Amino acid sequence: MAAERKAQLKVYRGDKEGGELKDYEVETYPGMVVLDAIHDIQAKQEPSLAVRWNCKAGRCGSCSAEINGKPKLMCMTRMTSFPENEPITVTPMKSFPIIKDLVTDVSSNFRMAKKIPAFRPRPKEADGTWRMQQEDIDRIQEFRKCIECFLCQDTCHVIRDHGKAEDFAGPRFLIALAGLDMHPLDTLDRRELVKDEFKVGYCNITRCCTEVCPEHINITDNGIIPMKERVADDYFDPLRWVIRKFTGGPEKKEKAHLPVLQEKTGSK
Ligand code: SF4
Ligand code: SF4
Ligand code: FES
Repeated sequence: MAAERKAQLKVYRGDKEGGELKDYEVETYPGMVVLDAIHDIQAKQEPSLAVRWNCKAGRCGSCSAEINGKPKLMCMTRMTSFPENEPITVTPMKSFPIIKDLVTDVSSNFRMAKKIPAFRPRPKEADGTWRMQQEDIDRIQEFRKCIECFLCQDTCHVIRDHGKAEDFAGPRFLIALAGLDMHPLDTLDRRELVKDEFKVGYCNITRCCTEVCPEHINITDNGIIPMKERVADDYFDPLRWVIRKFTGGPEKKEKAHLPVLQEKTGSK
């Protein structure tokens, strides 16, 4: 394949002790993506360059990084989307602790995922089936497109600037909680947890998370805002609050608790 042009890259090299941007030059070819350029550097210039990836197809969510300062999937970002003759900067996600080079420790997300009480469906109907309205399922289907790239978590200022990765669910897990709350079969009421443990109130609806989502999930408008409204209705509407206090909740009766196996690490 004929080389079309050379591209300049500035790639972060370092670990938790510190690091710096290093300059590289690669030959480009039609269809090349930033992950190809990183692999080219790894193959021909820097075998020790650390990068996490799996599918190279935008499906696994592993190759998240910041390209020219913007959270993106390296495998879905064409080299031609940047101006020629200007270096392309590739740095690790800033919100998570660095392990090496472009690889970050995203385990705070896995700890957050473990805190969410799991889906608990109501019993099947007499004929052994569950029935749901298609429109109810269509509404939550969008959230299931998430590939757990954590680019939304990376960009959210609550996590990025205030270091709340262990305290605030963040956009990825707020849509998971919204999907459970909206699920027509689910029987658990997680709204108190959404308010007190997952701290939905920290979100000020800036929509930065929605802008970076490679799956184009409308995180804020379709997930977080309805979730906030449901919590506000239950806890800050006086009439709903009284109903909730005496009936246990207008829609779902069983109050959810954090899973016992929660593994909490300190952060502030
Ligand atoms: S809308 Fe909320 S969750 Fe999304 S980036 Fe802004 S503060 Fe974070
Ligand atoms: S919601 Fe979008 S940006 Fe966030 S983890 Fe899922 S796919 Fe990635
Ligand atoms: S390598 Fe799987 S999403 Fe990029």
